[in-house]
Amino acid sequence: ATNRTFTMIKPDAFGANNTGNVLAMIEAAGFRLVAAKITRLSEERAGQFYEVHKERPFYGELCKYMSSGNIVAAILEKENAVEDFRKLIGATNPKDAEAGTIRAKYGESIEANAVHGSDSDENAQIEGSFFFSNLEKF
Ligand code: CMP
Repeated sequence: ATNRTFTMIKPDAFGANNTGNVLAMIEAAGFRLVAAKITRLSEERAGQFYEVHKERPFYGELCKYMSSGNIVAAILEKENAVEDFRKLIGATNPKDAEAGTIRAKYGESIEANAVHGSDSDENAQIEGSFFFSNLEKF
């Protein structure tokens, strides 16, 4: 079925002027842009977004990193969106990501890995609503 996922272009990719390149790969893979904006997370808001990782050793650094610069938040739509998007972005660690994936091309490290992608339909909905109102979700 056609469904939606949520992505962020992270501060490393945004700062390296790769936003256009990443969005081009996303569109070329057949995803429709439902909503998109340039924004910035405070450390506190990054902490809320990544609340599920609160107990992980990398949580503090992750929140600092994610609030270190501009990001693009976006909602994407496609057949089988969540699963297909995770294939398009590749493994969390760019070193392990398959050639041709977004993280293999533009990721710098396991933390600064260029993009986020939701891991379930439920989280896609929650994460999209973290950044966008219902009126923005066309
Ligand atoms: P993301 O898919 O956005 O979900 C959680 C993020 O935490 C992940 O991408 C990375 O940016 C970061 N992350 C995951 N594992 C590690 C790790 N072992 N060390 C540092 N950062 C990590």
